[in-house]
Amino acid sequence: MDNPFIFRAYQAKELFCDRQEELKTLVTNTLSGVDTTLIAQRRIGKTGLIYRLIDEINSENLPILPIYVDIFATRSLEEFVKALSTAIMNAIPERSSIGKKFAKFIRSLRPLITYDPLTSAPQIQLTLQSEDEQKQTLTGLLTFLDKHDKKILLAIDEFQQIREYPENNVEAMLRTIIQTLNNVTFLYCGSKRHMMLDIFGGERNPFYRSTAFVALQKLDRDVYAEFISKHFHDAGFGIDDTAVHYILDWTRTHTYFTQRLSHTVFDMARGKVDVALVKQAAAQILQSDAVVFGQYQQLLTAGQWNFLIAIAKEGEVSQITSRQFLHKYHLGNPSSVSRIVSSLVEKNLLDENVTDGKTIYSLNDVFLSRWLEENY
Ligand SMILES: Nc1ncnc2c1ncn2[C@@H]1O[C@H](COP(=O)(O)OP(=O)(O)OP(=O)(O)O)[C@@H](O)[C@H]1O
Ligand SMILES: [Mg+2]
Repeated sequence: MDNPFIFRAYQAKELFCDRQEELKTLVTNTLSGVDTTLIAQRRIGKTGLIYRLIDEINSENLPILPIYVDIFATRSLEEFVKALSTAIMNAIPERSSIGKKFAKFIRSLRPLITYDPLTSAPQIQLTLQSEDEQKQTLTGLLTFLDKHDKKILLAIDEFQQIREYPENNVEAMLRTIIQTLNNVTFLYCGSKRHMMLDIFGGERNPFYRSTAFVALQKLDRDVYAEFISKHFHDAGFGIDDTAVHYILDWTRTHTYFTQRLSHTVFDMARGKVDVALVKQAAAQILQSDAVVFGQYQQLLTAGQWNFLIAIAKEGEVSQITSRQFLHKYHLGNPSSVSRIVSSLVEKNLLDENVTDGKTIYSLNDVFLSRWLEENY
């Protein structure tokens, strides 16, 4: 039997735990044309949920054409336009009437169709010269979608990447085009929460409050426990309740880490799973990830590294500049700690979670956190 605990790309709704509420909200927003920003901690399941939504749209035959584009690897407006046109081309059936119209539109841009050497997926190479030309093409692409007779969902993942483009005012330009569209609903998502919050919640920014927010929390512990238990039982292994809870405690119910530990446990299982086996799997993961953790240390200053150790030892910390915390771990003065915190948040190593006006800090990587806890 295939391992049912996925920690890479989304596969099927049977292997996807819960998110019913959030899914319902996203479906409603999409059907009623409300643009949405999906906000969450790293690796909690944002991208997975977008795929789950697309799966739902397709399997329920909802009157929506979903298009997903991940712009993580794009470095300029030109690459953004290219990624978007490739995503559109892959999402619409070639022989449908919209497919034919799209091909005609793309041909007018004198493109070069290339094929990905690994996957053989077609890619569009556009030879856009000036920034103006790029803007025009982008407007053209989006207005093309807007004229389609079916509503369109355009999900843009790793959206904060637009801030890395060398062109000026990309945000304002995009916002201006998007404002004119009636038929395309946007779903924005990104792995850098503080940047996404600034793009959509920063008063001075073009996208300020232009979308509804869906904040993704950790999965419900009981629901997740049942999900894990069920998959071990379905495979004929079975698992002790204490072992399930050990998995969820050790990974702090953080999706990616829970999935990965469950995956490893499943691979090692020969019969009913107990806590001893879970501990063995956890140790194996830390051992194999230790190489990466060692490299982190090389990239950080001693102050940053010590600070990570302190947070790891505590699990989570809210009073980050309290005398007691600083004193306990010999962290220096509040102002140098503030600098360390912003650089670690910037590097995506530290998570800054604001709920109900309270800020809680923890390590983004639960395995790194467990490793530091054990080794320092
Ligand atoms: N509800 C779920 N049930 C089971 N597995 C899930 C669920 N949500 C996400 N996953 C899996 O957990 C892993 C991490 O999720 P995902 O990549 O969606 O997180 P993310 O929030 O987009 O991360 P990043 O911040 O790095 O972009 C993936 O392998 C995904 O398939
Ligand atoms: Mg993601």
